[in-house]
Parts: sequence; C-alpha cells; structure tokens
Amino acid sequence: MVDMETLVSLCKRRGFVFQSSEIYGGINGFWDFGPVGCELKRRVKDNWWRTMVQWREDVVGLDTSIIAHPQTWVASGHVEAFSDPMVDCKKCKKRFRLDEITTKVCPECGGELTDPKKFNLMFQTHVGATQDAESIAYLRPETCQSIFTEFKNVQTVSRLKIPFGIAQIGKAFRNEITPRNFIFRSREFEQMELEFFCHPKESKKWYEYWVQSRYDWFLSIGVRKENLRLRPHAKDELAHYASGCTDVEFQMPFGWSELEGIADRGNFDLSQHAKFSGKDLDYYNEETKERFIPAVVETSVGVDRTCLALMIDAYHEEEVKGEKRVVMRFHPSIAPYQAAVFPLSGKLREPAVKLEKELRKYFTADYDEAGSIGKRYRRHDEIGTPYCITYDFQSEEDHAVTVRNRDTMQQDRVAVDQLVRYLSDKFVG
Ligand code: GAP
Repeated sequence: MVDMETLVSLCKRRGFVFQSSEIYGGINGFWDFGPVGCELKRRVKDNWWRTMVQWREDVVGLDTSIIAHPQTWVASGHVEAFSDPMVDCKKCKKRFRLDEITTKVCPECGGELTDPKKFNLMFQTHVGATQDAESIAYLRPETCQSIFTEFKNVQTVSRLKIPFGIAQIGKAFRNEITPRNFIFRSREFEQMELEFFCHPKESKKWYEYWVQSRYDWFLSIGVRKENLRLRPHAKDELAHYASGCTDVEFQMPFGWSELEGIADRGNFDLSQHAKFSGKDLDYYNEETKERFIPAVVETSVGVDRTCLALMIDAYHEEEVKGEKRVVMRFHPSIAPYQAAVFPLSGKLREPAVKLEKELRKYFTADYDEAGSIGKRYRRHDEIGTPYCITYDFQSEEDHAVTVRNRDTMQQDRVAVDQLVRYLSDKFVG
C-alpha cells in the first residue's frame, strides 16, 4: 500500500491537492483541490448524486445555506455537546485531544498538562454589523440539520409520501483540534448526506437496506473489496437516540478508518426541531389517518475522505523495461479524465484539437502536446487517464488513431469515426 508521503507528493506534483495558502506558509487543516483533484471530486459527487437522487423516485435534492439560524444548533445539541475534551501543555503550549494521548505528561516535551477542558468544534462568526452574543452564528458542522428544518417545505412541494429521502451535498466546517492525515481530517470538508424519512416501524428495514446499498456504492466506484469493511457500532458507542449505526471503513495506510456512517436516528432530530421552533413537523398519512413524527435513517459520507480512499486504492507501482511506472488505476467512472489526445508532432495540432473537442462532448478529456509521447503517457498514468489517443502522420491517411489502454498498455488502432462508440463501450463494460 502506498505510504502517505508518496501520495501527498504525487498529489502536489500532478495537481490533485495543494496545501491551502501555500505561498503564505499554509494554514493547518485546509486544502485546495487542483485541476485534476477537482475533476475527481466532481465525478465522485456526480456519481453519488446520480445514484442517490437521479436514479431514484423516492429521493429529492436540496441545497441549503452554510449559515443557519443559531437555534438550529441549540436544537441539534451541537452548542451544548459538539465538543472534544482537550488538554494544553503548560510548558510548550501545544494542545491535544484527551482521547488521542496515552501519557499523563505532554507527548511532545514531557511538560505538565492542564486539566481537560471542553472545546466546541463549531466555527463561530457574527452576522450583521454588531458583534455581540446576539449576533453569533455558526458555520455548519454537518449538512443534515437544514434537511430536518426544511422537511415540511420539501415534503409539501414535492408531495412525496413516506418513505422518502432528501439528499444534499455541501461544505461543512469543524475546528478540529488535531487535523491530520492529509485530507482525512480537515477543518473544511464536503459531505454527501441523505436523510431518509420512514414510518418508525420500518426504520430497521430501511437501515439494513441503506447499509448494504452504501457498501455496494463504494464497490461500484472501484474500491477494492479487501480494503473495505462494515463496522456496526457497539451499544455503548451509539448516541442515546440512535438504535443502530454502522460505519463503512477503508483500510488507510494509518489503519481502518471511517468513510461513512449509516445511522437509524429514530425521530430525535425532527422532534428536537419541532420542540425548539414550536412548529409542527408531523407527517399525516391520509390513507391510514395516522399522524406521526417520521423516523430517520441517515447516510453521511465525506467527499474528501472518499477521494483519499480512491487515490490510495488506485495507486500502483510497477517496473516496465527497467523503469518505475506509477499508475493511478481509477475506475473509469471516476477517473478525473476519461481520455487524453496527443498529437505526435506540433504539426498535427489542428486535427488533434478537433478530435479532442469532439471527445469533450461525451467525455472528460484532456489535450497534451508537451514532451515526448512517453512523457505524456507517464503524466496521464499518474493522473489515471484510462485511454490516451495519439494522432499521428498515418492518421491523415487512414483516418484512424492509436488508443493506448492505461492498465494493459496495449494499443489499438481505431477509426476516428468509431472512436466515441469504442470509448463508450469501454466505459459501460
Ligand atoms: N450528520 C452526521 C455526521 O456528520 P459524522 O460521522 O460526524 O456524522 C460524517 O461525519 C462523515 O463526514 C464522516 O464519515 C467523514 O467522512 C466526514 N467527516 C467528518 N469529519 C471530517 C473531517 N474533519 N474531515 C474530513 N471529513 C470529515
């Protein structure tokens, strides 16, 4: 398995991920996705959205604001309880999460530690011109709370009947005490969350359904089975309102780690928001004349963590003719670029660009004319482009191009007018 240092260096060199604000010395816990990384991220999000919303009749989407009414976070319990106990070193002033240290003295310098203090992980800001206790607001630490507060609006306009879900992709912020492991634990990240509302009697059934279906999704985007596992939470790990929770975990270089949590949350969230807002968040079933607060099954996955898992899983080194070849073996459905077009010589730019433009209508495509063909292959192997297409002098005569397969390195000669069909078949198959 690739070590983190090698991966972080590849990410920088090839434009997957940069340290945020690098020219100012960086800012801990924040990352920028470069031209290749943002394509990967976008494809992961598109894939999730297609699976969870576009292909389903029982789920609709939502895109809510990052800052919500501060009462939201009182009702959800975050103002009171979204905190980690932490200790400070009296000597070197470093701060640690209590659950992450095993010694009673500072793990850095051996100094004396303070008593544990609660540290709320929500970022605070002020809304409006005055900065006082009244104007405090929070950057959301998870995207799901606005799904609950918009439940009634969405249900009314979409006229969906229970069971149904509301999905959202968006940024979340947590002032993590110890951001670490590259993009695994950062202070700004993206979540893809689904809240699935059902009759309380059916929540166990839906919980089991979603655990399986989320596990299958990771396999469908190419995560290797041996690196993926489901870990049901023990009773003492569960939040008091939850009756079940399972993590989808991935084997990272630093151990098995959570990518996604699936939880049967009962009706806790809707009940809390009904209580704090004084608004009715019940659901009325016209057929059975039953009125009840729906139960919720949640699926919550981090985009950044998924990208990290995909990159670790895809990383592959091999020796070809005495030289090291690094290949990112991304599944074609999430590869940042699906195809790249190379003119053999600068003289062939015009027809090669024309071909690239045509391919861009159907695929994510790149164009590269810098350096030898070998160098261009190496670059595209390292960003995981499944098919590289070379337009050569012969192409002018036979109207065909050479298509090179990233994994097998085999080359096919394909007629230009058959190329879209040829590639489409590869991506489907
Ligand atoms: N609404 C439930 C919720 O937010 P969570 O387990 O705290 O649950 C869900 O977060 C997912 O969000 C995690 O499984 C992880 O993928 C991602 N996530 C959470 N904190 C993160 C962080 N600091 N950096 C990157 N991703 C994070």
